[in-house]
Amino acid sequence: MRVDVVSIFPEYLAPLRLSLLGRAQEDGILQLSVHDLRDFTADRHRTVDDTPYGGGAGMVMKPEPWALALEAVLAELPETNEAPTLIVPSPAGEVFTQALAEELAQEPSLTFACGRYEGIDERVLEWAAEHFRVRPVSLGDYVLNGGEVAVMAMVEAVGRLLPGVVGNPESLVEESHSDGLLEYPVYTKPSSWRGHDVPDVLLSGNHGLIARWRREQQFRRTAARRPELLEGADPAEFTGREREVLRELGYDVVDGRLVRQ
Ligand code: ADE
Repeated sequence: MRVDVVSIFPEYLAPLRLSLLGRAQEDGILQLSVHDLRDFTADRHRTVDDTPYGGGAGMVMKPEPWALALEAVLAELPETNEAPTLIVPSPAGEVFTQALAEELAQEPSLTFACGRYEGIDERVLEWAAEHFRVRPVSLGDYVLNGGEVAVMAMVEAVGRLLPGVVGNPESLVEESHSDGLLEYPVYTKPSSWRGHDVPDVLLSGNHGLIARWRREQQFRRTAARRPELLEGADPAEFTGREREVLRELGYDVVDGRLVRQ
């Protein structure tokens, strides 16, 4: 996959060169290019922002450097039938989820436009829609200083789904959100540590029992920490024993859907 990031702080993205994603770049699985938006300005001060029309606090990113930067990225992207995806990190975007990461991992390329200040002139998104599939995406309901940290999170979440990036692909299957539930708790040696013991079942060697315990823990954890993830689920997805646990955790079936009492 090819990833292009446009930012006024290219150094901010440096951690994407480390660890698993660094190796993925060495192995040719991921091609990451970071572009400095200021390289696409024409004035002596390399100006990227200006005051907002209509007044108000803060500055807005000027449109022309963005168009030039995105045109330069487009010129480097291989020809495809479908428009390439442009992700614009913004607290006003759709929320980034594991499902979206999985969808984006299928794309041949992703381009990210990191806004700063109060945001990018809205006309850039209108213009970009003529060349890209534009998706404003939010990391969550809070405000960051700019898109760079959001891009790091998104590139890491997508990059680790590319075949060959994570050594054991099975570890992608049993993790939080891969099946809509939170992951079960994990333990390692010693079996007794500072008065805290590993649950007996994990030492039993009975794989059937262990699998059942882990699944039950997923339900307990999800109900305690993220009850909305279970709300509305189709009970047909669960075994009889699992439905029993869900009932114990306060869920009932109403009109064929799980509802919390
Ligand atoms: N930029 C500022 N806040 C953001 C957020 N919550 N998600 C993505 N990009 C952002």
